[in-house]
Amino acid sequence: MITIRQAWRDGRAQLHCSPSPALDARLLLAHALGRDHAYLVAHDDELLSAEQAAAFAQLLARAAADEPIPYLTGRAPFYGQTFAVSPAVLIPRPETEQLVEAAIGWARGRGRLRVADVGTGSGCIAVTLARHLPAAEVAAVDVSAAALAVARSNAERLAPGRVALVRGDLLAAFGPGLDLIAANLPYVTRQEWTALPDGVKSYEPALALDGGTDGLDAIRALLPQAAERLRPGGLVLLEIGWRQGAAAAALARAAFPAARIAVRPDFAGHDRLVVIETEPSQG
Ligand SMILES: C[S@@+](CC[C@H](N)C(=O)[O-])C[C@H]1O[C@@H](n2cnc3c(N)ncnc32)[C@H](O)[C@@H]1O
Repeated sequence: MITIRQAWRDGRAQLHCSPSPALDARLLLAHALGRDHAYLVAHDDELLSAEQAAAFAQLLARAAADEPIPYLTGRAPFYGQTFAVSPAVLIPRPETEQLVEAAIGWARGRGRLRVADVGTGSGCIAVTLARHLPAAEVAAVDVSAAALAVARSNAERLAPGRVALVRGDLLAAFGPGLDLIAANLPYVTRQEWTALPDGVKSYEPALALDGGTDGLDAIRALLPQAAERLRPGGLVLLEIGWRQGAAAAALARAAFPAARIAVRPDFAGHDRLVVIETEPSQG
């Protein structure tokens, strides 16, 4: 029999290859025990039952084999909320919070906007926009039924009644009249794919990552559809790969010849977000 304190220490040692062994061990221990961090700290001399110890040992073995912690615990943080995740969806990334930030900054105070999140995955973008933009009509689309089921569970818990979930290919299911189109579509290039960490390549869905030879297949297909559906004075936000700024901006320029187009860097200084803002109609 071992205590919470000892189990946590053992877990940290077992996950020494992780960049964050203490955090990972703590998250897995809390999950195995069905308790939160505060409980682990306050009851660190409590003994684990045999079942709890076995469950923790199994989680540690999977984590040591590179299975991402959010898939093991079924949850991931995004923009201050906890989202359910499964291997059917990409684990939400901190970089994507920048896209959400830009969307909220632009949309706040503009009232009743029609918003589409294309490639919603866990629903993290759509649900966060619905929570922060109470007057917006938010739709979330994904080609994967399994991803949409995860998005639905997040929408029902975090933004009940606020997000319309649509299964479809890019914007095919939408007519004109969208004010804001946000998309974090797959953008990993063929070459980058081989160099991805094992935890990403082996466990996260290829459908969420594989952007074709230059990583821009999905964005290339989306842009002309977006141009047909965006209202004058509307905004498109696209998350992109860190070396795709110039190529993505050129695609955006071809689809939106008269728009203001900018590529914004992430906190590491890499290309991350394409911003396309169209002129309001004159008249
Ligand atoms: C990079 S993941 C992003 C998930 C989520 N929006 C996020 O930011 O964490 C891309 C998502 O796009 C979806 N997807 C890929 N191709 C698509 C298409 N042609 N139409 C709609 N969704 C697509 C994938 O199933 C996946 O859920």
